Amino acid sequence: MRFAFLEMVSAEALMRDVPQTLSFMQTLPEDRPVGAQLVGCDPGVMGEAAAKVEAMGFDLVDLNLGCPVPKVVSKGGGSMLLREPHTAQHIFTRVVRAVKRIPVTVKMRLGFSDPSGREAMRIARLAQECGVDAIAVHGRTRVQGYSGSADYEAIRRVKEAVTIPVIGNGDVVDGASATRLRRVSGCDGVMVARGALGHPWIYRTIEAALAGCPAPAAPTLAERKQVVLRHIELQTRYELRPLGHLRRIICWYFTNLPGVAEFRDRIHRAQSIEEMRSLVDSFQPCAHAMTPVSA
Ligand SMILES: Cc1cc2nc3c(=O)[nH]c(=O)nc-3n(C[C@H](O)[C@H](O)[C@H](O)COP(=O)(O)O)c2cc1C
Repeated sequence: MRFAFLEMVSAEALMRDVPQTLSFMQTLPEDRPVGAQLVGCDPGVMGEAAAKVEAMGFDLVDLNLGCPVPKVVSKGGGSMLLREPHTAQHIFTRVVRAVKRIPVTVKMRLGFSDPSGREAMRIARLAQECGVDAIAVHGRTRVQGYSGSADYEAIRRVKEAVTIPVIGNGDVVDGASATRLRRVSGCDGVMVARGALGHPWIYRTIEAALAGCPAPAAPTLAERKQVVLRHIELQTRYELRPLGHLRRIICWYFTNLPGVAEFRDRIHRAQSIEEMRSLVDSFQPCAHAMTPVSA
């Protein structure tokens, strides 16, 4: 089974109906099952916001205990809660009490600075005692940020500390890394983040690998273009100023194809959505470029 979470939103901003927050939470029927993720550190506000997420029709509500961003951490939210087990416990209690029908999950890092996984184990046990349904663990600490590699052995220690499902996360970029995460950590599910940027085919690749099936064919150029054009259409429909984001997003889809450097340059100079569409339409990997092709 597959499901996705939206990017985190501030519980407090959601309760104030901040227009930008509400716009981040738009979804399409085909996105389901889809969860919303809340960040914050006030148990009462987190409880109210979780009830609101449920009322908005989301299928899950997730609590962020992993965000490393200074603006979030300095206010006591995200990964700072790994150091504040009492506050975390209050949040779990209020949220589980406020939500009636949908699962409550928690996304965390291994710890704030201790890479052993002890902080995550403690928080995971508290979450389980409070009635949280599942947890996801990114195998790095807040201090590590995105450096080094995710520690799947430490995720195993968290997995062994609880009986609720544990979803492993960190550095999954293909079938082999997903299989290694599952084997080393014993996790019940695999979460993919950066590996899916410009590569939504990663999900079918991972599913095949975990089922022991041969890898599906890499997407053809026509398939890539079709998905990029759909991405452009949705981004344009749901974002007020999509040009800036699209400059980055479109190039992700063609990473590693020969000739992409020149294409990237043209996309960055494009001044309209129409121009971007036509650049995508006419893009041809150039046979004599030195960049190797990979799936
Ligand atoms: C640009 C960016 C934004 C992210 N936003 C969120 C977020 O809103 N909520 C969250 O729980 N994790 C967020 N993450 C962390 C990812 O969910 C994930 O834990 C991390 O990138 C490690 O997984 P990966 O190696 O598969 O990318 C973000 C990561 C990146 C790079």
